[in-house]
Amino acid sequence: MNKPKNKPTLPYFNSGPTCKHPGWNLQKLSNALVGRGHRSIAGQEKLKEVIALTKEILKVPDDYRVGIMPGSATGATESALWSFLGARGVDVFSWDLFGSLWSADITNQLKISDTRVYNAPYGHLPDLSLHTPDRDVVFTWNGTTTGVCVPNLDWISDKREGLSICDATSAAFCVPLDWQKLDVVSFSWQKGLGGEGAHGMLILGPRAIDRLATYTPPWPIPRLFRLTKDSAVLEEIFQGGMINTPSMLSVEDCLGALQWAKSIGGLSALIQRCQNNSRSIDSWVKQTPWIAYLAKEPQSLSPTSICLEFLDTSTGQPLPEAPHRALIHSIETQLAKEGVAYDIRNHKHSLPSLRIWAGPTVETSNLEALFPWIEWAYTEASQTA
Ligand SMILES: Cc1ncc(COP(=O)(O)O)c(C=O)c1O
Repeated sequence: MNKPKNKPTLPYFNSGPTCKHPGWNLQKLSNALVGRGHRSIAGQEKLKEVIALTKEILKVPDDYRVGIMPGSATGATESALWSFLGARGVDVFSWDLFGSLWSADITNQLKISDTRVYNAPYGHLPDLSLHTPDRDVVFTWNGTTTGVCVPNLDWISDKREGLSICDATSAAFCVPLDWQKLDVVSFSWQKGLGGEGAHGMLILGPRAIDRLATYTPPWPIPRLFRLTKDSAVLEEIFQGGMINTPSMLSVEDCLGALQWAKSIGGLSALIQRCQNNSRSIDSWVKQTPWIAYLAKEPQSLSPTSICLEFLDTSTGQPLPEAPHRALIHSIETQLAKEGVAYDIRNHKHSLPSLRIWAGPTVETSNLEALFPWIEWAYTEASQTA
């Protein structure tokens, strides 16, 4: 097969940090408040604007609080686990690496004895109907390392007594979040927005605020994760106050991404861009006999982190592990060398697969330019294998 002629205009398909939004360049950071205090009036205005725009674009209800946290999605999620859990039994649903990390936090670190862990093998969802509304529930909306996501939140009761705690890292700004069903939501700037790492967001509904005000966990909470002081909710976190010093460069970058999101039409436009991207991948997958989704049920197919495995066309089954990993390594290396695509190999702890980010900052035209290159690299690798 001849080398394709057209390359993607941007070779960035990594699943976090993801591709910057269209029109981004370093000049966009020239108004960053570097060398200034984040507690100055100007610094506070920037942080408050991040919160206000996040609330507006994600259509967060008025009575929910939005705060900026240290430590990206991990910081925001672990702050939630340490602050809210332990008041009642907890159900943990896990179907990718991050779900299993939260589950390990809950069982090995917090050691909550009344924990029910529901794991699914990679490619599948666990049986979500096993959750009962008297308990807290922890889940990851979109398993970034498997490309499997929840199809909806119908399995979370409107009359729940427990809290629903959701790591929405590769879902926020990509799919509609059903706020009625969500009490605690965490995510980072480095996924849907194409922002920088360093900071995460924590969004709390009224029931979560009530838990904070009425419950003190039995374990110590590092100050970096603490949402209360002397048993009172630390309101300043939700008003642009930070637990420790933020990166004002990252803040500026996040503001730029939020302003871009607003300028193109907000959440519906972002979701539309994801859907266009996943449709374009889907039509390529359907016409390519040697590739298939890692996600096995169409209703739980992620629209953002698309994980693809290579098939033995004679059996229709995924290639055996060692040649599979070798093929993926070869394709990734060839495409990076050509400057066509970087970092499209899935996480080392997942099954052998390509992982292509298809979130809102990625242009569909760049995905379409990528497919012929994957075909070329696959053909090259197969001929030399
Ligand atoms: C679902 C999910 N949760 C959490 C994280 C951790 O994010 P961070 O490294 O920004 O803390 C990731 C990172 O890829 C993720 O995909």
